Amino acid sequence: MEIITLSVNGELRAVHIESNWTLMKVIRDVLKLKGTKCGCATNDCGACKVLMDGKAVNSCAVIARKCEGKTITTIEGLANGDELHPVQRAFVETGAIQCGFCTPGMVITTVALLTENPDPTEEEIKKALDQNLCRCTGYIKIVEAVQLAARLLRGEEPITQGDRNGSILGARRPVLDAAAKAKGEAVYTADIELPHMLVGRLLLSPVAHAKILNIDTSEAEQLPGVKAIAHCFNSPDTAYNSYMIYAGQDILKNERVFSETVRFVGDRVAAVAAVDEETAKKAIGLIRVEYQELPAVFTASEALSPDAPKIWEEGNKIADMVAEGGDPEESLKAADKIFTYQVKTQKVHHGAIEPHSCIADYKNGKLTVWTPTQNNFPFRATLAEIFHLSMNNVKVIRPTVGGAFGAKLEMILEPVASVLSMKAHRPVLMEMSRKDVISASRCRHAMDFTLTTGLNRKGHVAVQTADVLVDTGAYCSSAFDVAGAMMDKLTRQYKIPNFRIVGKPIYTNTQICGAMRGYGTPEIVAAREISFYCIAKELGIDQVEFRLKNLVDPYDINPRYGDSLGCAYVKECLIKGAEVFRWKEKCRREKDIGRYRRGIGVACGIHGAGFPHAYFDYTTISMKMNEDGSCSLITGTHELGQGVNVTLSMMASEILGIPLEQVTVVDSDTDVIYWDNGAHASRTTYVAGNALIKTANKLSERIRLVAGQMLNVPLEALELAGGYVREKAKPSSRVSLGDIVKKAQSGPNSHCLQATESYQSYFDPGSYMADFAEVEVDTQTGDVKVLNIVAAHDIGKTMNLLTTEGQIHGGIQMGLGYATREEILLDHITGKPLNNSFKKYSFFKASDMPKIDIVLIENGEDSGPFGAKSIGEAATDAVAPAVINAIMDATGCTFFEMPVTPDKILKALQGSESSTQP
Ligand code: FES
Repeated sequence: MEIITLSVNGELRAVHIESNWTLMKVIRDVLKLKGTKCGCATNDCGACKVLMDGKAVNSCAVIARKCEGKTITTIEGLANGDELHPVQRAFVETGAIQCGFCTPGMVITTVALLTENPDPTEEEIKKALDQNLCRCTGYIKIVEAVQLAARLLRGEEPITQGDRNGSILGARRPVLDAAAKAKGEAVYTADIELPHMLVGRLLLSPVAHAKILNIDTSEAEQLPGVKAIAHCFNSPDTAYNSYMIYAGQDILKNERVFSETVRFVGDRVAAVAAVDEETAKKAIGLIRVEYQELPAVFTASEALSPDAPKIWEEGNKIADMVAEGGDPEESLKAADKIFTYQVKTQKVHHGAIEPHSCIADYKNGKLTVWTPTQNNFPFRATLAEIFHLSMNNVKVIRPTVGGAFGAKLEMILEPVASVLSMKAHRPVLMEMSRKDVISASRCRHAMDFTLTTGLNRKGHVAVQTADVLVDTGAYCSSAFDVAGAMMDKLTRQYKIPNFRIVGKPIYTNTQICGAMRGYGTPEIVAAREISFYCIAKELGIDQVEFRLKNLVDPYDINPRYGDSLGCAYVKECLIKGAEVFRWKEKCRREKDIGRYRRGIGVACGIHGAGFPHAYFDYTTISMKMNEDGSCSLITGTHELGQGVNVTLSMMASEILGIPLEQVTVVDSDTDVIYWDNGAHASRTTYVAGNALIKTANKLSERIRLVAGQMLNVPLEALELAGGYVREKAKPSSRVSLGDIVKKAQSGPNSHCLQATESYQSYFDPGSYMADFAEVEVDTQTGDVKVLNIVAAHDIGKTMNLLTTEGQIHGGIQMGLGYATREEILLDHITGKPLNNSFKKYSFFKASDMPKIDIVLIENGEDSGPFGAKSIGEAATDAVAPAVINAIMDATGCTFFEMPVTPDKILKALQGSESSTQP
């Protein structure tokens, strides 16, 4: 131990440190300044940035010993009480904050940039922001925030983007906790400190497939500070499925807290709880495991071979899931032209900047778990099942979530932390390293499509068949649902009277695949849209024309289920998007023949708004009035940074006629909130929005009943507006909401003015989109620069323009990476991950992002809340094929294996020099 003295946020602090400590450890663990976030601890993501002597540094990469005499400013040192620093204010006002986990680091980078360069160009801003990763925003609004901050700091008038109309609905409003996130005050799971809390660490399998013969923990147990060690021989053996949606669900369960057979590199072997991180890590290194190695298989196609090693006794193929309609066989025979393509999609990392983390605290027979989950209630149900606890003795609390994108829909650490807490009788905090998050949490499924399309003489699709291998990794998890969701999209986008699709979830000795933004949809959209590019090219038909000929129309009937597609305005997306993109003009352009070649591409897609075809899809919302006329809204929905809380509050504000600031949202704690089916399937706005309307209308009725008695008029003659209930015919006759509440709560028949309503969705209207991309390919290096994206979305009605745009920007960033660079790579012999760091796993950064134009088609969905459908996942679905089609247009080569990397492009260009273009 030594002592260093440094100035932190204007205060002189003397700190005892160990020689290997980083500045981040000092800031977070010693000084308890939790606004500084840890996204990687490897100097790659920028979430831990602080100002050191005025320069922005990654505090995880600064050795604490070298900070003697330094002046440090953390995110907490910028605001003056409630008065935000201009940079923080700019981030809030521009909607640059979604999950907020990257925000403190982004703000610090911005302060450093603007101190040095008060009037930076857009390129200079992007270059500075390249030090920081964000997975939510696509950086577009962050760049706008920096530009606004620069103007504010220079004392110039901000250029404001006004709301679109007088109503709060459709207006631009930041997420409710934006200011807290900007100030570093939002509390994420790893920021929580409980008395006597221990630190837990995992031991993960270094081999891809093995039986565990023995685990020797004797040395680790002797280490002072070790409080508990858990593994397969001393932990509950209950089989569960980490993806389970509801208690009692009939689902294939083959995960365990620890399994006696490990099935991928990264499978859980053991865990330690100790008094601090160093001791826990040391103890992990002292555990001796005897493995009996087994042969392993790493791809779905190889796993289907009769000679492939069996990962599970029942075989490697989990099921043949079949959906068919019409007469595909006869239609294929009768088709004028038949095209078959094989398209491969890859596994990708979600990239939430907040790593997986959780705290478990078991005391007095009750298990409390804090976790950034997308689905509180299945976590509660599964933990109750594993530990044989009644559900009232399991409580799941969701602190602020630092990005999820599907990765946090499934339990990973929670059962482990719970076992450790039960053994140690103390709370246990567990966090995954970035390395482990990339290779041992969840990832997108890889899928191999064999897609056959039969056209009739007029060029209409008469039949489509698909055979899809779905690599689900080592355990079942969400295999059925992701494959099912993928299959579900076959018949909802194009008119396909005859169809057959077979989804085959297959085990491999690889990381477990799970839900990820789009949930099987980006995969099938990519496969089909790439194949349609080739078909249109082959037929010599314009890409837009070919799609217009075959896309569905509003209220068409889905041949699979026989129900309406709802207001399916995908053709309008395509037509309006093509106008904004200037498709026809760009089609007429001379083809580049030099080193740099531009190309254009288009792709259409579909996403749903819930899952009534698969599960019961409902939620419950409660609203209660306070004595001053403000309102508390209790919801089981899950705020992940996507803005559900602000959207529901805007709807409540509209119906109750009170300002947005007078609506408070209570969420996150299973002991308080109502059961909800989780934040997935893009269901939240649609399902919870409808629940909100039902509840608020009921509350309005109750309010008007009391007001009617006070004003002596029937409730039908009254309306809510501006914090009052007033007579429609005579607005001056009115009574304030506060007085109505006080009246209801006093005197005889006193009651609380509240309402609680459930809404169950039986309909899943599609949200449609057309994405257009323009790229420039460097034919000498294979590098692709995406120049422009036009994203046209049929979303029903926009509820919050700021968060809608933010979702689309973020979805595009993910789609761009999916198309061109993101892939989890494994060693083909050992199954060991090759790129499990942010250094090696390549995201689109700020300076990589293209110009983005958004077109919103808002014809309103009759069944949607105020006409809304969904946007969260739709934002990603069609981006990748639009970009890949543009690359094919630019190069004249075809690409059927994603991602289309520079290597693949160069190889194809070399191979195509003497070949014909597609
Ligand atoms: Fe940037 Fe979520 S807002 S990572």
